[in-house]
Amino acid sequence: MGKRQVLVTGGAGYIGAHTAVELHAAGYEVIIADNFSNSSPGVLEGIERITGVKPVFHRIDCADRSQMVTLFKEYPGIEAVIHFAAFKSVGESVLNPLAYYRNNLLSMINLLGEMSVRERGGCIVFSSSCTVYGQPAPEHLPVSEEAPLQVAASPYGRTKQICEDILSDTVKASEGKLKAISLRYFNPVGAHPSAYIGELPGGVPQNLLPFVTQTAAGLRECLNIFGSDYNTPDGTCIRDYIYVCDLAKAHIKALERMTSVASGTGENMEYFNLGTGKGLSVMEVVKGFVAATGVDVPYKITGRRAGDVEQVWADPSKANRELGWRADTPMDQVYRSAWEWEKRIRNL
Ligand code: UFG
Repeated sequence: MGKRQVLVTGGAGYIGAHTAVELHAAGYEVIIADNFSNSSPGVLEGIERITGVKPVFHRIDCADRSQMVTLFKEYPGIEAVIHFAAFKSVGESVLNPLAYYRNNLLSMINLLGEMSVRERGGCIVFSSSCTVYGQPAPEHLPVSEEAPLQVAASPYGRTKQICEDILSDTVKASEGKLKAISLRYFNPVGAHPSAYIGELPGGVPQNLLPFVTQTAAGLRECLNIFGSDYNTPDGTCIRDYIYVCDLAKAHIKALERMTSVASGTGENMEYFNLGTGKGLSVMEVVKGFVAATGVDVPYKITGRRAGDVEQVWADPSKANRELGWRADTPMDQVYRSAWEWEKRIRNL
């Protein structure tokens, strides 16, 4: 029997690439579809250096229906799809909402269009976000899957909510041909231990850890900490930072849950929160990074960033229990992996 084929849309992106590596290690044949809108061919080289195998790659835009049709014609054996391909900048989505609706929704619609016309159906893992919960009420912290969804704070967040709805309606209508799992990520950080793949934001980093590593590398003068007057122990915002390799492994568990005959327990569409279960403040992250790497990170406290939620962290017990998965890499190791990656790409 040949290897089981898994299509990874957005597989040249940050989480997609780490997941492609884990899929390879788990014995799957990986087919990557990506248009490099927020990545580059160098990522594929990184994957190849780690796995020793050049990933099968198609440069396609998932929002373009004809390209998706052609891809599925070429690979009728695709058993499952992990769907990462999407725009992901909160700020950019506020400035250019149509680009977000067009890209993120059309990709999902085109993918499901192809999956649902196939006789064999298939399984889909969707890359969702804890942003669907907004700022949970204190009684909903840590956030379980039972917490109510809230009106999204940005078009980006709304695309995640709408995509989950599109997915669940389509799964329902497929009468058992399609199965799906939506993974709601908290804050993915760090890089592969080889330092061959990692997070590489274009322009000024919007997310905390890339800004920290770039400041440590001397590319940025100083980290701005957005607000120290929140209602948290040290006044800075709290998030659940999850190591990207731990996160990548959860995708394999999700696939196994849907494809293994033995499991058969889950609903056809399920949701899992992926986090560590522990919240860290911005200040704790900065101090933790400095302690783990021994590198200084100059910072100053500035005003709050519009749209930031004060504190959110996961109750990952459903994923721990049902997927048999846990994010347990110690944070000092995570910080060092991010720093090793930054050093490698900057030739430090
Ligand atoms: N922060 C700073 N300085 C920076 C960057 C970030 O102080 O230069 C702070 C933010 O204010 C926030 C924390 O660091 O308190 C984390 O910020 P990130 O931008 O790294 O992460 P967010 O939690 O804002 O956003 C992430 C994902 C989004 C997702 C969102 C859901 O990037 O895709 O979680 O909450 F929508």
